[in-house]
Amino acid sequence: MQQTIDDALAYARGFIKEGKVATYIPELAKGNPDHVGVCLVTKEGETYHAGDWQQEFTMQSISKTMSLILALELVGYDKVFSKVGVEPTGDAFNSIVKLETKTLHPLNPMINAGAIATASCCVGGEDPFGRFLDLVRTLCGRDTITLNEAVYLSEKKAGMRNRAMAYLMQSENILECDAEEALDLYFKMCSVSIHTQDLANYAVILANDGCHPVTGERIVESWIVRIVKTLMVTCGMYDGSGEFAIKVGIPAKSGVGGGIVASVEGQMGIAAFCPGLDAKGNSIGAYRILEYLSRHLNLHYFAGTDKKVV
Ligand code: DON
Repeated sequence: MQQTIDDALAYARGFIKEGKVATYIPELAKGNPDHVGVCLVTKEGETYHAGDWQQEFTMQSISKTMSLILALELVGYDKVFSKVGVEPTGDAFNSIVKLETKTLHPLNPMINAGAIATASCCVGGEDPFGRFLDLVRTLCGRDTITLNEAVYLSEKKAGMRNRAMAYLMQSENILECDAEEALDLYFKMCSVSIHTQDLANYAVILANDGCHPVTGERIVESWIVRIVKTLMVTCGMYDGSGEFAIKVGIPAKSGVGGGIVASVEGQMGIAAFCPGLDAKGNSIGAYRILEYLSRHLNLHYFAGTDKKVV
């Protein structure tokens, strides 16, 4: 296994020059494009890593999976999905165009507009961000996980597109709170700092029906895990979700910080990191690592007997 992971990293290094570090959030432009790392945690609790697996980065859109968990726990299925749909958009993650269609609500919780609506469902009650951080720490198994204040402030200052979408949604009574409150929580959620082992620990819980792989303790209810993994399949890689499903075939979620988290049903959690992104905002290095691992460990959800590479 360790050899395969090392080989995956070496394979991915051949592509990372093609990536561009995100700059629309100025603080993210400081990401080092040469960083590349991976961590894999099996259902039996074995952990493997390679490269810059311990390098911290901000979750960015990966947080959308966790804010969806929190929102479903707090206000339930009917409320959350009265605010946001479950259909792929085929548009960029920060697109505003479909917000003015007849459905009016954002099409799914994995795009920015949908995640802002989801965050608004978490705003009621005391210390919403504290509650979110507690959830992240539990899911990732590390109680020192914290906010990257510089990235949060940078995004809060630069997040004009998100602000436009939030105000549009508020004008249509889609948000559960004031636009600025929802945005502030959303920016903080995106700016939580983690490394690949944190995310692989989270992904193996998803792979294990919401239970901790070693202790067996239930961390997330099964019906919530099912919804989150389904949306990772259909929308987790934005307008690249279809191609990723064919080439990798693992429920996954990307973030513009350079991370991708992937949950191999019943088997393992994988997280990969490399800051350079493709045109759709997905990490090129992390994508290639997952592609390699899927092919060599036969992880595609519809893995057959023919190993033809596409
Ligand atoms: O709102 C934003 O644009 C970022 N905080 C998150 C976007 C993101 O990660 C898209 N992912 N690939």
